[in-house]
Amino acid sequence: MSNIKSVAVLGSGTMGAGIAALAADRDCKVLLLDIDKDTVEKGKMKIVNEKKPMLSKPSNIENIATGTFEKDFHKISDYDWICEAVVEKIEIKRKIFNEIENYMNKSSLVSSNTSGIPLKDITKGMHEDFLKSVCITHFFNPVKIMKLCELIPGEKTSKEVIQKLSIFLKDTLEKGVVYGKDTVNFIGNRIGCFFMFKGLHEGKNARKNNISIEKMDALLSKPIGLPPTGLYGLIDLIGLDVMYSVGKNLEFNLPKNDLGRDFVSLPDEELNLYNKGQLGRKTGGGFYRINRTIEDQKLKEVYDLEDNIWKPALRENFNVSYDVMLKDTIEGQFVWNVMGASLLYAADLIPEIADDIVNIDNAMKWGFAWEKGPFEILDILVPEKVVEKCKNLRVKVPKMLEILSNSKNKFFYKEKNEFLNIHGEYQKI
Ligand SMILES: NC(=O)c1ccc[n+]([C@@H]2O[C@H](COP(=O)([O-])OP(=O)(O)OC[C@H]3O[C@@H](n4cnc5c(N)ncnc54)[C@H](O)[C@@H]3O)[C@@H](O)[C@H]2O)c1
Repeated sequence: MSNIKSVAVLGSGTMGAGIAALAADRDCKVLLLDIDKDTVEKGKMKIVNEKKPMLSKPSNIENIATGTFEKDFHKISDYDWICEAVVEKIEIKRKIFNEIENYMNKSSLVSSNTSGIPLKDITKGMHEDFLKSVCITHFFNPVKIMKLCELIPGEKTSKEVIQKLSIFLKDTLEKGVVYGKDTVNFIGNRIGCFFMFKGLHEGKNARKNNISIEKMDALLSKPIGLPPTGLYGLIDLIGLDVMYSVGKNLEFNLPKNDLGRDFVSLPDEELNLYNKGQLGRKTGGGFYRINRTIEDQKLKEVYDLEDNIWKPALRENFNVSYDVMLKDTIEGQFVWNVMGASLLYAADLIPEIADDIVNIDNAMKWGFAWEKGPFEILDILVPEKVVEKCKNLRVKVPKMLEILSNSKNKFFYKEKNEFLNIHGEYQKI
């Protein structure tokens, strides 16, 4: 059992409210702080919202005390875990971290819920003793529903801190924990963003080949074990504004030779939408929108990026499976160029972002609702065939596929409970 019994959550927005609600629902004593009383009370109201309540029992709201940064920061000294969930701006996070250092109890644990800013940048110049207690706990939205929490130690974080938080996240909050490294966007978002940006860039070519947005989404969903939103539907959910700033963060922080560097900006058509504020569901439409007909029926429409007009969205369906991406059809090439490329990208990121394939597979399944992780998909495709395709296309064979090829083994997983490690040997999960 974990000995974390109380949590101070700093920031009561989407994520802060979600984390506070989950902890309160598991009988923790919670302190929720924000910039002013109105904001934090709004955050608290979200938790008990009748339409989408975040608590299993409404009375659990009594576990949450609220306050403001200005008046109540000192109260964090009474809490076992301090979780920062303020807006994704490094200078604001650094300011909050300086305050945490001032007021915390030395035995407390501290984490940031940043989606992608490396911890070393948030904590640059802060005291070594403080850094031992600090790490990243990256929850996914909505906190109540998404299983994933990425746990990322900094260079100085003590093993004990990671162990304590890991037990709490798994046993008390019932999250699926993956262990990542302090690199830009960590695991899920590093691969997920590559998939989305590469998808948008390939989408432009695909449209020239008469593969419509609806067709692309039909291909990049059920046939290859991805959620029904596909690519464009997913970006509508996230918002082009978020994609734009995620791209800027990647541009700044991706390693020099990273393959994702070529795809960190929005293609012209999407930039156009961004500039005119057509961002996605939050603005009433992005690539798709729901319109009302004269008869007051709901009509799903899709935005034609070339003609700049809304059109009725067509229902598309492809009776294909994972191996479509190994086929030489126009659809197959498109899926290979987006999903295949994402699998190869993931297979080149060990040990940079995680120590093993299991952490990467779990991150994509638990955080992005992929039915299978990248290495499980490569096993379905048969790794030898993927290597052959890479060689035919003169594409660099990624690290983990090379390790597998050079070993006497054929697949990344053996039975259910062994995986191929970075030395090309099977290891128990
Ligand atoms: N929304 C997501 O899908 C998601 C998922 C994972 C991680 N994250 C990360 O979680 C963190 C919070 O994101 P969110 O979606 O809850 O954002 P949000 O905009 O809903 O909430 C941000 C909070 O920061 C507070 N804030 C704004 N300016 C501030 C300032 N100057 N000083 C102190 N606090 C200030 C706001 O009052 C608000 O409560 C970010 O780091 C974000 O990247 C978000």
